[in-house]
Amino acid sequence: MHAHLNHKLNEDVTVALSDSASSDVLGPGPERLLKLLCYRFYREKESSFQESIQHSSSLIASGAFGSVYGNHHVETNQRVAIKVVPLPKTISNRSAIVDVFSEVSALEVLHDVEDVVALVDFWVSPTCNAYCIAMKCHPKNLKMWRKGVENGNPEKGDLFYKCLEYFEKVILAVDAVHEMGVTHYDVKCDNILITDQGEVRLVDFGEASVRPGWNAQNVYNTRDRGTECIKSPEMLTVCHAEDTNRPQYDRRRKIGTNAASDVWSLGCLLYELLVGEFLFQDEDWTRFYCRLTGRGQQLIPDNARTALLDRFGSDGREILELLQTTMLVRNPTRRISTKDLLRYIQKRKKKGETQS
Ligand SMILES: Nc1ncnc2c1ncn2[C@@H]1O[C@H](COP(=O)(O)OP(=O)(O)O)[C@@H](O)[C@H]1O
Ligand SMILES: [Mg+2]
Repeated sequence: MHAHLNHKLNEDVTVALSDSASSDVLGPGPERLLKLLCYRFYREKESSFQESIQHSSSLIASGAFGSVYGNHHVETNQRVAIKVVPLPKTISNRSAIVDVFSEVSALEVLHDVEDVVALVDFWVSPTCNAYCIAMKCHPKNLKMWRKGVENGNPEKGDLFYKCLEYFEKVILAVDAVHEMGVTHYDVKCDNILITDQGEVRLVDFGEASVRPGWNAQNVYNTRDRGTECIKSPEMLTVCHAEDTNRPQYDRRRKIGTNAASDVWSLGCLLYELLVGEFLFQDEDWTRFYCRLTGRGQQLIPDNARTALLDRFGSDGREILELLQTTMLVRNPTRRISTKDLLRYIQKRKKKGETQS
């Protein structure tokens, strides 16, 4: 599709397509897709944006699917981060357009949500041979902050309450996103940026499900998404969800994953914040899979229990209890809601304030 639309002989087609895509009846989706498929839009509009980016771009991070560069945007005098995701090299390579489309759709739908990184622009670039997503830049993320604590940052004294403070902000952000019909599906410290004022900004919506006008609690998905060790049990088994012959199949239950999956990942994130490591990371995948999906099996590994208790004593015990009875509950319908979780954390923070 990409190759056909950018062929010289098809120039007239893209003009006609762009006229029909901009009609209000179809909503913003087709225009977004065309912008990601055709170089024409880059040449017409985005090139001016590109020109005003100073070419002193520095690499912020690079991952399996692309890299993020920090740049200075002269016109608006702000720092922008550009996520660059390469186009497939050959027709048989996997195309990232679905992920990029999800990401820009989510960022556009969430443009009024303060806790989400601000989208500046996006385009497909013939010079970089890549999809580009420009966002406001916030150089620090929660993982870096946690590493700083380990390296003797003065904040170590009140680590427990500082973690609860950030955790409260992350819950607020995830709840706001759910209300707008978006499930993030990759909530972890890496994907939470921190502003200079200490506020949080969610990033990386490449795995997200986007259904504007709905509450994400009511939107079910059957695609396997996200980072393995923070996946919920229902996500790990989602490929069997539609198999009506399996013994656990229950026609009364909704099929697939929903916003409750993010609550499971929030539980993993709370542990990651407090201890600085992933809760369920295990080089033995089968053991990890059985731990999460096998009913009756001990869920939280012994070494993770010890880590919490050694570092935080009775506070650690309380967190263990909270994880086991609210966020890390295998049955998603019995898992705590973001609103109830928020109330619990706010109450717990207050208790700490009155004690000190
Ligand atoms: N707007 C941004 N400002 C600064 N750093 C960012 C921004 N967006 C992403 N990053 C950094 O780049 C890393 C990778 O970006 P991300 O969108 O999470 O891509 P990936 O899909 O490779 O995980 C993030 O963990 C974060 O540290
Ligand atoms: Mg990421």
